[in-house]
Amino acid sequence: MSRRILVTSALPYTTGPIHLGHLFEHVQTDIWVRFQRMRGNETIYVCADDTHGTGTMLRAEDRGISPEALIEGMRREHARDFEGFLISHDSYYTTHSEENRELSEYMYNRAKDAGRIFTKDVEQLFDPEKNLFLADRFVRGTCPKCGAEDMPGDNCDVCGATYAATDLGNPRSALSGGTPELRSSEHHFFDLPQMADALRAWIDGGAVQQEVANKLAEWLDSGLKAWDISRDAPYFGFLIPGTDDKYFYVWLDAPIGYMASLRKYLESRNDLSFEDFWAPDAESEVHHFIGKDIINFHCLFWPALLETAGFRKPTKVHAHGFITVNSQKMSKSRGTFIEAATYLEHLSPEYLRYYYATKITDGIDDLDISFDDFVQRVNSDLVGKLVNIASRCAGFITKQFDGTLAAELPEPELQAEFAARADAIAALYENSEVSKAVREIMALADKANQYVAQKEPWSAIKDPERREEVHGVCSQGINLFRVLITYIKPVVPKLAADAEAFLNIEPLTWDDSQATLTDHPIKKFKALFARMERKSLDKVVEASMQTEAETADREPGGKKGEESVTDTITIDDFAKVQLRVAKVVAADFVEGADKLLQLTLDVGDHQRNVFSGIRSAYEPQDLVGKLTVVVANLAPRKMRFGVSEGMVLAAGPGGKDIFLISPDSGAEPGMEVT
Ligand code: 2FM
Ligand code: ZN
Repeated sequence: MSRRILVTSALPYTTGPIHLGHLFEHVQTDIWVRFQRMRGNETIYVCADDTHGTGTMLRAEDRGISPEALIEGMRREHARDFEGFLISHDSYYTTHSEENRELSEYMYNRAKDAGRIFTKDVEQLFDPEKNLFLADRFVRGTCPKCGAEDMPGDNCDVCGATYAATDLGNPRSALSGGTPELRSSEHHFFDLPQMADALRAWIDGGAVQQEVANKLAEWLDSGLKAWDISRDAPYFGFLIPGTDDKYFYVWLDAPIGYMASLRKYLESRNDLSFEDFWAPDAESEVHHFIGKDIINFHCLFWPALLETAGFRKPTKVHAHGFITVNSQKMSKSRGTFIEAATYLEHLSPEYLRYYYATKITDGIDDLDISFDDFVQRVNSDLVGKLVNIASRCAGFITKQFDGTLAAELPEPELQAEFAARADAIAALYENSEVSKAVREIMALADKANQYVAQKEPWSAIKDPERREEVHGVCSQGINLFRVLITYIKPVVPKLAADAEAFLNIEPLTWDDSQATLTDHPIKKFKALFARMERKSLDKVVEASMQTEAETADREPGGKKGEESVTDTITIDDFAKVQLRVAKVVAADFVEGADKLLQLTLDVGDHQRNVFSGIRSAYEPQDLVGKLTVVVANLAPRKMRFGVSEGMVLAAGPGGKDIFLISPDSGAEPGMEVT
């Protein structure tokens, strides 16, 4: 019997661009969704932008636009990026919608009726200049444990202590720089401890992975705390019913956004209702795909709210780890903070989909993307193994046999062996063990290639008496290829669609793996998949470095809570930066670059070539002889005009107002700046 399934990926914050991290989750979800659809299960995949919070409000203010205009622009960008990666959302909505407002109010009112909402005064830091209460991330000060200065309001970057922002010594507002005051205000709380038993029962029912269940058991055993679900005005969000200055905390209405997005989608369907998915006894399934940092929101608060409001709870929450690039956190300066749009300018989405597929497991460990491995896997598996089967066989069918496959296959047992893997591979997809599914499929591809290689149709065709054999071998090869395309289709849907066109068949469903294609005309073979070029990947990395300055004000939302607007470095990070005094020995215009000057710098023991964006403020000849400060250990950066070996420091808003940082006279080229 076929299933009816609602699937979600975590809602990206409106405050930043879609990047490799979001894509890992959406690709994982999309593979699962496409697999379910191929199995004949009605699968609806919804998502939305997560729009509320102080961060959205401040950013809109900065840009001089309304929050509504800001979030609509971002929503379009996000939806476009996901489409570019072939993510098959049925609805990509926004949490700032009437549907979401209604549902959030409804859930809150039900919780209130059930006696699970209470109010309590909370003391919090308030920025009198900005006239708002400061979320922890917007406060900085001295760590109460180790005394490190300029630490964020939730935990110390130096000693790792966690604390309340009110515990910081000498606190100041990260927004205005001013000293915040302690003020008290009434907050609304959801009484989570009341829900402990219901949560335990839900977890025991198998709704989460084992590792996640263990973590949740720890939290439950150490005692749940009530959840603060309100924020004071000014805030960009939904007003709490019955108040005129309290808003729902962004994390209250974010998961409700899954429901709201479904509700929007259902406007286009008259055969399905909201209750089909969310009634307490609904037979449909609900699956959430999330990162491991937001397990508490999805496996404690969310099911507790659903239970309280009389809705069903999720069938399963699928949590995953984070990605690292070349074993390090994604980094703008290394060019590994790669935005979806930048990637798509140079590379096919299916390269990344495939590579990610080779990494997806049912666990929550972090996973590493290595650029060398990326290129190698794509080319050796997809081009060298999979597509190779078709390209070796197709030409003979077209040229020698009128483009028609043989009426009978010579190796029914081999065909049956391939078909027999359908259930095992399906089970792997179902359980998010996609990396294992891919390994199985590629092992079969090896087998198919060995078969063709052994039969050597290219030699056999020279013997007129062996024509029929060649027809059989190549038809067999094409049939094995067809089974493998069926199995890999959730991962690389465009390659699969092109293969379907070549095979001249209807879109493949999972059960098609059991059938064969005989006495059937196919189309002329065209290259189905281009090799991945390392230099295109290098261009992505280079472009990601170049957009660093432009995107500085579009930082991704901070994880684990509200969006962050500031990023900090530790003293250790700072210690890595080598600053040296440099003397400009030559300066020149750069043809084709109207913002740059080319500087030759004497840094004591050698000279360096540096491109600097200071042309609007300086005539080259005025710079010669000047002392400045250069970041000496910046990785050389290849630019269109040559390689830049460092960066000079300058201050100012831009245009004519750029001022080169110059040490006092007496400084010598090569001196370290300490
Ligand atoms: O962590 C995040 O990026 C959040 N914006 C995810 C929200 S998921 C859901 F609950 F809305
Ligand atoms: Zn500390």
